Amino acid sequence: MELRINGLKKYYRTGKEKEVKAVDGVSLEIGKGELVSVNGPSGCGKTTLLLISGGLMNPDHGEVFLGEKNLYRISPDVRDRERVTKVGFVFQQFYLVPYINILENVLIPTIGLNSYSASVEQRARDLIDHFNLSDRIDHKPGELSTGERQRVALARALINRPSVLFADEPTGNLDDYNAEVVLKYISEFAADGGAVLLVTHDKRISRQAHRSVRMKDGRFVGDDTNPVK
Ligand SMILES: Nc1ncnc2c1ncn2[C@@H]1O[C@H](COP(=O)(O)OP(=O)(O)OP(=O)(O)O)[C@@H](O)[C@H]1O
Ligand SMILES: [Mg+2]
Repeated sequence: MELRINGLKKYYRTGKEKEVKAVDGVSLEIGKGELVSVNGPSGCGKTTLLLISGGLMNPDHGEVFLGEKNLYRISPDVRDRERVTKVGFVFQQFYLVPYINILENVLIPTIGLNSYSASVEQRARDLIDHFNLSDRIDHKPGELSTGERQRVALARALINRPSVLFADEPTGNLDDYNAEVVLKYISEFAADGGAVLLVTHDKRISRQAHRSVRMKDGRFVGDDTNPVK
């Protein structure tokens, strides 16, 4: 298994308000080449689930195995390294850095690895080319359309050749054409052996997924298993 999550819980507590059970007992396994989609109403815990699964936020309970590594039982330094090398993350709000150009944005995840080399930069250029962004390579995110930004975010997520890709509403802001383009890239990643966990309301994606899970109030409430395409 590339990703195995087991009994995850995350309850947010803010001030005196009562706690929000954002994730309330979720388990899931994703193997190589598998694409799993999660859908459900706004606020049901999808982003929280992705952040925890991607090593970005500690759960209150439960475990996340990325390959063999139990992500929240290892030191934060080791976890960061695991995350940067094995996880690609496309955030719901992209989080591109506004004052640097596309090439520099795509290279961000390589910075801490002390592996910078001409070949890393070449891979970034190749990804940018693959995502049809070559003629925007020295533009800054603010100078791009939403669909272009979405593709930059995807290129950045893939730069370190992750084994698992997490994507939060990767087509949420896109027109039909650009949604198809992004979906094609994500499917290619899975077809090449990557594991994918994505949050989406897009029925086209759910239909392409190997498993499509419904979430409500922090729990999985249904699982439409599709035949493997
Ligand atoms: N940092 C936080 N502190 C307190 N409550 C939070 C925090 N982040 C999220 N929540 C609450 O936890 C619940 C789950 O939030 P989450 O962002 O995971 O939902 P979501 O399913 O991704 O929603 P959407 O579809 O709108 O993106 C929501 O009720 C939200 O208000
Ligand atoms: Mg969300």
